[in-house]
Amino acid sequence: MSEFKKTVLCIGAGYVGGPTMAVMAHKCTNYKFHVVDINPKRIDAWNSSDLPIYEPGLDELVFERRNKNLFFTTEVAQGIAEADIIFVSVNTPTKTYGHGAGIAADLQYWEKTARQIAEVSTSDKIVVEKSTLPVRTAEAMSKILKANSRGLNFEVVSNPEFLAEGTGIEDLLTPDRVLIGADESPSGQRACQEIADIYSHWVKPERILTTNVWSSELSKLVANAFLAQRVSSINSISALCEATEADVNEVAHAIGTDSRIGPKFLKASVGFGGSCFQKDILNLVYIARSYGLEEVADYWEQVISVNEWQKSRFVRKMISSMFNTLAGKRIVLFGFAFKANTGDTRESPAIEVTKQLLEERASVVITDPKAIENAKIDLVEYLDQIEFEEDPYKAAEGAHAIGVMTEWDLYKELDYQRIYESMQKPACLFDGRNVLDHSALHELGFHVFPIGKSPLVHH
Ligand code: UDX
Ligand code: ADP
Repeated sequence: MSEFKKTVLCIGAGYVGGPTMAVMAHKCTNYKFHVVDINPKRIDAWNSSDLPIYEPGLDELVFERRNKNLFFTTEVAQGIAEADIIFVSVNTPTKTYGHGAGIAADLQYWEKTARQIAEVSTSDKIVVEKSTLPVRTAEAMSKILKANSRGLNFEVVSNPEFLAEGTGIEDLLTPDRVLIGADESPSGQRACQEIADIYSHWVKPERILTTNVWSSELSKLVANAFLAQRVSSINSISALCEATEADVNEVAHAIGTDSRIGPKFLKASVGFGGSCFQKDILNLVYIARSYGLEEVADYWEQVISVNEWQKSRFVRKMISSMFNTLAGKRIVLFGFAFKANTGDTRESPAIEVTKQLLEERASVVITDPKAIENAKIDLVEYLDQIEFEEDPYKAAEGAHAIGVMTEWDLYKELDYQRIYESMQKPACLFDGRNVLDHSALHELGFHVFPIGKSPLVHH
């Protein structure tokens, strides 16, 4: 008899799978957790002292539970065979080919996983859909599993992840809610209860919501669409503020104190990034279109259009305030990650800004405390045109302008006097995150261009 009550497998050791299993292993020491991935390098990193993803608080949890009730391996088949419950958190990128290219989710990894589960299972399983997926993926998964069940019972449950990167561990430890979508049949409800049992080790029952599978899948897309919509809404207003001398921070504060609106997710920025927002909205748009709901699709698509526009607007502002040319000018980007406290650069606004700056023939320098390796992958076609420099002081030496792309705390604490002195004059600073002390920078001599506020320039 195993000393563990249940064996849980997670397929996909990424930003979702790794932290989620680490927290579960920490809270449920009576369960055994296996995390598998087809990428051996990733697994090696999970087994080393240098974990493959940066997430505050993650190292401690992994080091505490690893090889006790938390195991990282590449043995996918063996993991499936041993597991009672299988969380699937493999990647679901947007399709880059064929029908739905650029919009629909590419489900090939998912389908492969479903087939492999069916193939190697020798006992009943609960299969948990953890990655964000288009609505009705669970149904497809169920069909593949049932068609190959050989008399076994597979229950597919949706349990979307709501963690945000950079605060992932905190979000997992104290979630606003846990959502579990399951079939209404008795076996579906039993599976739902098994997943709820895991979370009830640390989450209060009233925060564990159960719905049908489709509501759960759709809720994940809608939550991200609503969050992204808030960012695009305030970003659209930031342009109006720049045109009118209103201050977007003051507007955000004034509207956010209305309890119906609330204060969060109203920070104007150079644009939202991350692996979820754009992908999930595109999924929503694709689904709406496929049901003939053109107005619904157009409505949500606009959230993405505003985001694209905000990124280009940032570059256009640089061009117009630097004598209408960036050619040959050294422009340093402070931060490349899509937000602070992560090395993740997926869909980071800095990617598009860099490409547009290169089109203007600027000489781009990128600095970031955690994301330089990922930045090099994102910009692989342009490496000969870009300088990467971890030290922000060196990066800024001789620069004509700084563009703040990521709100890392470290950028608030730099010696800007020293930076100003080392730069070309006039020295411009474009704060794409509104995190620096603009009047202090202006006093040092910088021309300062915040988002959604009047610029502070010297005449
Ligand atoms: C998001 C959701 O928050 C999370 O629930 C879901 O599970 C995954 O997608 P994440 O992408 O990790 O999480 O980060 P989030 O904090 O939501 O930020 C997304 C982007 O919006 C970032 O680029 C961030 O900088 C930007 N943002 C966020 C703003 O520009 N302004 C804001 O006010 C908030
Ligand atoms: P997310 O942010 O959703 O966690 P990631 O890309 O960080 O996405 O992680 C997904 C992980 O899933 C990757 O490490 C990838 O190698 C892994 N993966 C993809 N397909 C499979 C598969 N069939 N079996 C095991 N792991 C897989």
